[in-house]
Amino acid sequence: MKIKKAVIPVAGHGTRLLPATKSQPKEMLPVGRKPVVQYVVEEIEGAGLKQILFVTGRKKRSIEDHFDKDVNLLKELHQSGKSSIIQEMKYQELNVSFYYVRQSEQKGLADAVSLARDLMENESFVCALGDSIIGGSRPSHNLLKRMMDFHLKNNAACTLAIERIPREEVFRYGVVQVGKELEKGVFTMEGLVEKPNIEEAPSDLAIAARYVFSPAIFEAIDLTIPDKGGELQLTDSIGLLIKKGAPVFAVLLNQNEHRYDIGNYESYFRAFVDFALQDEKYGHTLRHYLSRKL
Ligand code: UTP
Repeated sequence: MKIKKAVIPVAGHGTRLLPATKSQPKEMLPVGRKPVVQYVVEEIEGAGLKQILFVTGRKKRSIEDHFDKDVNLLKELHQSGKSSIIQEMKYQELNVSFYYVRQSEQKGLADAVSLARDLMENESFVCALGDSIIGGSRPSHNLLKRMMDFHLKNNAACTLAIERIPREEVFRYGVVQVGKELEKGVFTMEGLVEKPNIEEAPSDLAIAARYVFSPAIFEAIDLTIPDKGGELQLTDSIGLLIKKGAPVFAVLLNQNEHRYDIGNYESYFRAFVDFALQDEKYGHTLRHYLSRKL
């Protein structure tokens, strides 16, 4: 049994990034040279998955266009001899099929994931948030591979990625309570809280935007009660799995893996600077510029 499919929810409004997200998806904002969602797709493809379902919404059309091979543009680039740019467009040849489903009303991340039910056909699948990059300028496929291996070997209902964060940032993320360390960096999950304040946070370990789910998640989503804002929170659905005694595990990001969250300006700016500094062509001069400036 192998995991072949992934869902990328990209239907959120991105309110925290207004006005930049007024008419364009936050998942298409550039980090270095590429839009955020391209890193996510490359990470998934690199981990060996073959089918990607985007949960999209209004104003998200440009994501579809980005992954659609533009034959005319390639012809023009060939004719004008722009070979280095043609190289940059190679992502259009990725060995994956894309599918799209629309979330017409923004009813929360769990609602977005529930729309994947038909395509997943009773198989385990990966869920990767479209506004978070794992790794540096080169995507890290290793995290998803570790998560999928552990998930399948242990017949898990959910295996999610976690990352240690500064305590003052817990209010931004789903924060988890882990139990036993089963093997290096892999824990049982005992509980989780969505965006807690510092006093309520059970730890400084945050969910890091990557999940592997068995189809059991769909039943849990069906039983999830909407929050005060009327949204179905994925952390609540995972909480139901834990309560019912289903096997839920957490895999800690290793030292070379970092989660870049693009959903707020503070971490988006950090991500852009890190990636721009790593750029093969411009990183060096940018470093000089910044050190002069600072
Ligand atoms: P966020 O929790 O950051 O929500 O979503 P958001 O609505 O995009 O951002 P703000 O809070 O308004 O600034 C995390 C990921 O889940 C998707 C988003 O597109 C993002 O990639 N999402 C969220 C959905 O697909 N549907 C939803 O109903 C909510």
